[in-house]
Amino acid sequence: MITPIEGFSKLTKEEKIDWIVTNYTHNPVTSKNILNNYLNTDQELQKLHDEFIENTITNFYLPLGIAPNFLINDQLFAIPMAIEESSVVAAASKAAKFWFKLGGFKTSIIGTEKIGQVHFMYHGDPEKLEKFFNEVQEKLLKEASDITKNMEKRGGGVLKIELRNKTEKLPNYFQLHCTFETLDAMGANFINSCLEQFASTFKREALNYSAFNEDEKNIEVVMSILSNYVPNCLVRAEVSCPVEKLSKDPKSAVEFAQKMIQAVAIAKIEPHRAVTHNKGIMNGVDAVILATGNDFRAVEAGVHAYAAKDGNYTSLTDASLENGIFKFWIDLPLALGTVGGLTKLHPLVKLALEVLQNPSAKELMQIVAVAGLAQNFAALRSLVTTGIQEGHMKMHLLNILNQLGATDQEKTTLTQHFKKHTATHSSVVAAFENLRNQ
Ligand code: MEV
Repeated sequence: MITPIEGFSKLTKEEKIDWIVTNYTHNPVTSKNILNNYLNTDQELQKLHDEFIENTITNFYLPLGIAPNFLINDQLFAIPMAIEESSVVAAASKAAKFWFKLGGFKTSIIGTEKIGQVHFMYHGDPEKLEKFFNEVQEKLLKEASDITKNMEKRGGGVLKIELRNKTEKLPNYFQLHCTFETLDAMGANFINSCLEQFASTFKREALNYSAFNEDEKNIEVVMSILSNYVPNCLVRAEVSCPVEKLSKDPKSAVEFAQKMIQAVAIAKIEPHRAVTHNKGIMNGVDAVILATGNDFRAVEAGVHAYAAKDGNYTSLTDASLENGIFKFWIDLPLALGTVGGLTKLHPLVKLALEVLQNPSAKELMQIVAVAGLAQNFAALRSLVTTGIQEGHMKMHLLNILNQLGATDQEKTTLTQHFKKHTATHSSVVAAFENLRNQ
């Protein structure tokens, strides 16, 4: 029987590995070998990775791929993508190539505002709270000036602090709803430090506010934390072209445009489809977010909340055909950083950012939005024409062959074979067994 362990974090890495493989795996020797195989032989590099998190026992690899030929605002980019799913990098590259010939992607920043909130309970007269808030606001900012001064020097800082009354939804619940400009930093630490300072000033000043009665003085701060919902930290990416340029044959070009528009229309009104449609977008978005050391969970949470902002979960992309021009675009809320966090620490992240020409946070927002749009274009293009499985299975073929333990020679033979035949999981297994038994 496995018993709980005390002081696991204090064990050495070797001891942690021994404990986990002995207690939780069937074959400790093999398990230990697997874990050790993923450790880096460069001790210093390994130490760096060990220290990113707690209780590290090895590294977990994802492939880093490149999708080249992205023309964004007339500048050419090769986009690094960290992702395990086959077809994603290939699809991005295909979409990049397609739009390269048609003038590429255009992007613009709609806003860069980030949000944080102090959530608190106040038992008393809202008007008195409003008055107190107006009187204390300057002090809130002043007492946070040690935290904000460097950001302010660079042109960022606290943009606004609002008092919000939420008592209609939850009795006694109010917020300090704060907006920030954090420039090239994702800003989580900056925002959270500001909020905690606001909360402490606010609480202390309330205790000394003579117009408050005893209940009113006793403001209960529940928590102070940034929000990953950033609808005003928004970027647009789009592509457009005369509709006839979408295909060699003008008739099929119009048909294709109409089908793309229908596909988007379906995703706009049907949540089951919208979720998958947006998942495809996030294939591109997350892969760049990961490669550039940003927080994909924050982005995922914020993007999906944005997709549901009007009360129904809907498509993040849009498409139109007007006056003979086909247009396809996306608006994405993205709170990203190109300084701080992992950006200088993780050698691969540093390299990925270098490949992207060391973008500012605004530039990275634009690149990420393009990756999402390209991914959606490629997915819809396959879905409304050949179907997704054709391209997917071609890429998946290699994964299946690897799982089956095919040799390089067998892989070459079977890749050739499936150029002429439909690849499904069972047809690949059958062809592999057939080849082995010849
Ligand atoms: C697969 O990872 C993504 C797609 O399902 C997206 C879509 O259906 O639009 C192909």
